[in-house]
Amino acid sequence: MIPRLTLFERLLHRFHFLPTPVMDAFGNVIFGRALMIAVRKGLFETVADRLLTIEEISHESQLSVSGTELLVDAFVASGYLKRVGGRYTVTAEGKKWLVKSSPSYLGNLVRYFETLYDRWSYMDYSIEHGYPPKPYFQMFSEEDWKIYVYGMWDLARLLIGDVRNKIVLPRNPKRLLDIGGSHALYAIECCQRYPSLNAVVMDFDNALQHTAAIVRDSGLEERVALLGGDFTKIELPLEQDGILMFNIIHGFREEDSRMLVVRSLRALKPGGKLYILDQMKEKSWRSGIAQFVPLMVGLNILNEIGGNTYSFEQVKRWCVDASAVKRFRLRLPGVTLVEVTK
Ligand SMILES: C[S@@+](CC[C@H](N)C(=O)[O-])C[C@H]1O[C@@H](n2cnc3c(N)ncnc32)[C@H](O)[C@@H]1O
Repeated sequence: MIPRLTLFERLLHRFHFLPTPVMDAFGNVIFGRALMIAVRKGLFETVADRLLTIEEISHESQLSVSGTELLVDAFVASGYLKRVGGRYTVTAEGKKWLVKSSPSYLGNLVRYFETLYDRWSYMDYSIEHGYPPKPYFQMFSEEDWKIYVYGMWDLARLLIGDVRNKIVLPRNPKRLLDIGGSHALYAIECCQRYPSLNAVVMDFDNALQHTAAIVRDSGLEERVALLGGDFTKIELPLEQDGILMFNIIHGFREEDSRMLVVRSLRALKPGGKLYILDQMKEKSWRSGIAQFVPLMVGLNILNEIGGNTYSFEQVKRWCVDASAVKRFRLRLPGVTLVEVTK
């Protein structure tokens, strides 16, 4: 992670001698770009569990020697690689997040972030107007849809350990609806936990064509159905014991998100549970990632589709028909899970 400040640099920062805009507008941005290229080129796999020279990495990755040297030294400075003698290998941090064989691999998510770059070129338009020239899904190629689904899958695998025990459905639940369920990981997890449960994952057909393989691998094809279409336009299936709305509300303006929550509550049985997970804005402005990430997600989603991020208090106000609304703060800073009981 950058910047990793030394003690002296922290002191400079404390007394406002560190020119932070240089890192924010230059160093961090170009480093992010370099990381995306390295992940796409499989550089971290190349050096995983091996000690290689710059020339060897350059040869295997088919990159120039000068480009490779700049890349790997940047990853040493940021803690993903380490130098041993004149050779390089991956650190524990790099191995955990950036090597494909790791259960915590985030390379698919980094690939998804790379697809955002082109669209950030019109962010001034989006900030000016409150919406982009076109919604993201009208700009997606087939490959972009696949990258999107697997990127969201990485994020879900990161969250699932923390979320799984917080989802408590009524006894012997029969029906679960995963709105915008993409990769279906959360629906699969719920079906594994509740043997009486069948799930429906709603999403655009372009996303669901990639979901089918994930469901097949889980062995739950009989119990996890895929329903293609625009969930703002098609009727939500009724009599649900549980509804998941994970990373969905930020994709809409407040009134549309509120309406989706109202429709979801109608689709639940009495006593059924709606779970909303999102990057929620913190009202008590504590510093740190929990404050920063929801704002950056908000800016990005404004640029993607004219959406926004919301606070727990806003979400609670949308749930007038609920009997109880409960909030869980998750281990990942900035992410909140809300349980709404009908
Ligand atoms: C940010 S992803 C979240 C995926 C998953 N719920 C998760 O948390 O990992 C949003 C998903 O909702 C889908 N989506 C957004 N708007 C939609 C709409 N109007 N109709 C159907 N699917 C939609 C997208 O295709 C995408 O798969």
